[in-house]
Amino acid sequence: MTDASRPQMIAPNAAGIARAADLLRAGRLVAVPTETVYGLAARADSDDAVAAIYRAKGRPSFNPLIVHVADVAAAEQVAVINARARLLADRFWPGALTMVLPLREGAGLAKAVTAGLATVALRCPAHPVMRAVLAASGLPLAAPSANRSGAVSPTLASHVWASLGDAVDAIVDGGRCALGLESTIVALREHGGWQVLRPGPIAQSEIEAVLGEPATGLDTSRIEAPGQLASHYSPGKPVRLDAQQALADEFHIGFGAVGGDVSLSPAGDLAEAAARLYAVLHEAGMSGKPAIAVAPIPEEGLGQAIRDRLRRAAA
Ligand code: TXA
Ligand code: MG
Repeated sequence: MTDASRPQMIAPNAAGIARAADLLRAGRLVAVPTETVYGLAARADSDDAVAAIYRAKGRPSFNPLIVHVADVAAAEQVAVINARARLLADRFWPGALTMVLPLREGAGLAKAVTAGLATVALRCPAHPVMRAVLAASGLPLAAPSANRSGAVSPTLASHVWASLGDAVDAIVDGGRCALGLESTIVALREHGGWQVLRPGPIAQSEIEAVLGEPATGLDTSRIEAPGQLASHYSPGKPVRLDAQQALADEFHIGFGAVGGDVSLSPAGDLAEAAARLYAVLHEAGMSGKPAIAVAPIPEEGLGQAIRDRLRRAAA
């Protein structure tokens, strides 16, 4: 049965932030804007609240969640922050970098947050609304993207509502997410070495410059971040990549010189394309056309992260 009073829509002002923090402390689910995508937040120290995230998303419980913290001090409560992690935090936090770090003993996180792994994924977000909610709640917040598992990530409050409906208690409407792609996930290995598990707004080369050592090989026989799963970000119909032209039954997503039915960026700007990608995929998913074609996107800079998401949308 659906309840017309759910979810509550919350304004991103002082009263709204206090309301969101109250709901979170009470163990409820609140969708909150971040600079990457909307997150479906719950207190990370509560088994029940974290279980509610998995239920609402229909997410497999072997896929661990990112824990959001207010600052490095809060990160130290739940993870071991070594010298390399500190370098990356100094450079990229608050921001679109998630670090996979050793879980601290006695961290007090719900077991399901880490899906039983000995590591935890941590991010200190930059969005002022998410930062205010973290500060007001005084809690580490588990927050995956606020969409049904496997579907396109939300960059508008209306996307959250369309994907999750009344499975979420409240949505804080912070408008459009500026970056539009999920954070870069980097794993720092306890005994040296590091890898990018999910490409994102922060390039591997920027991380390499800070760490002063190249990334080590990734064990591709093992799926560690189900962001690595082949099929993800699905708009619910077939997607064809690198299409200069569309077939009659295809909704054409353009870029640069390729106009399409709607363009990611007429100017061929990759940052604009990243910011618009999920909104355009939502639009393509809702169009009357049974299939989607996407113009070529160059595999350079942010184009790598965009192509990563498109390949999974097409899988
Ligand atoms: O930008 C973002 O990162 C957004 C916003 C809301 O912060 N969050 C997000 O969360 O994308 P989610 O749950 O959709 O993606 C989390 C990814 C998954 O691919 C998961 O497998 C991986 O992080 N992950 C979480 N904990 C991990 C761990 N301990 N080791 C390896 N991968 C982990
Ligand atoms: Mg996601």
